[in-house]
Amino acid sequence: MVQVKLERRAPESVSVAKLDADIGKLETLEARIAFIGRAIEGRISFSTSLGLEDQAVLHAIAHEQRVFDVFMLDTGRHFPETLETLDTSQLRYGQMIRMVSPDAGETQELIARDGVFGFRTSIDARKACCVVRKVRPLAATLAGATAWVTGLRRSQSQGRNEVSFASWDGAMNLIKINPIADWSLDRLEAYISDNSIPVNTLHARGFPSIGCQPCTRAIKPGEDIRAGRWWWENEDGKECGLHSRPARLPSQEKPAPTTC
Ligand code: ADX
Ligand code: SF4
Repeated sequence: MVQVKLERRAPESVSVAKLDADIGKLETLEARIAFIGRAIEGRISFSTSLGLEDQAVLHAIAHEQRVFDVFMLDTGRHFPETLETLDTSQLRYGQMIRMVSPDAGETQELIARDGVFGFRTSIDARKACCVVRKVRPLAATLAGATAWVTGLRRSQSQGRNEVSFASWDGAMNLIKINPIADWSLDRLEAYISDNSIPVNTLHARGFPSIGCQPCTRAIKPGEDIRAGRWWWENEDGKECGLHSRPARLPSQEKPAPTTC
């Protein structure tokens, strides 16, 4: 088994490529999570939005011996149903999820400049809101972690169709791991049902992908599963920056080149 060391590695690291191949060979999510826990030294952080994918990963992590750091970015704009899902999950899995808030001063400045619904006025204003409420808190939270686990799946969108099980994230200086990258929606739903995993009640009301309340709507039959996210924008740019960051984050010296 490959042991991933703490030193900073180049994107073309052979170890990360081997990790990617090894995870993909394992059939079950539990086996993948256990392998990741054994193979990686240092802090492994799992970011959860409490969506279907993340609830499946949370379930597997909760049953794993190795402790993973689990956090949610509390943007301050989540649906009440999402917060209910948080509460249910904390009860079911034992308060595993810590909430990460954006910087209070930056949020105040954002609202003073753009207003509480500033993200509706332009794509730049929308991205500025995502940077303050999501991207910077994510970067601060992942600082010092060796690996970052997410619930990204290839079939979620065109832009995610090359998501790997493990890759080097040069911006965050860590290994990004997507343990259900190859799962179909059917497989995900079967796993959720087989394990009676708590899910956001909005999923049953036409919300397959759930983000902040003002920026998420229900989809119509036949629409793409991410069609309800930032629905007023072009398909090309519909990411908040967590997984496809610009070359530089505002006020950040180092480059941030990464995609899903
Ligand atoms: S987003 O970039 O469009 O918002 P999406 O909702 O599909 O992302 O979720 C993809 C992954 O991003 C999740 O599996 C999770 O790891 C991370 N993520 C998204 N939103 C949050 C959040 N609020 N807190 C923590 N992680 C999140
Ligand atoms: Fe702001 Fe909307 Fe981005 Fe949430 S999704 S951080 S409300 S712009």
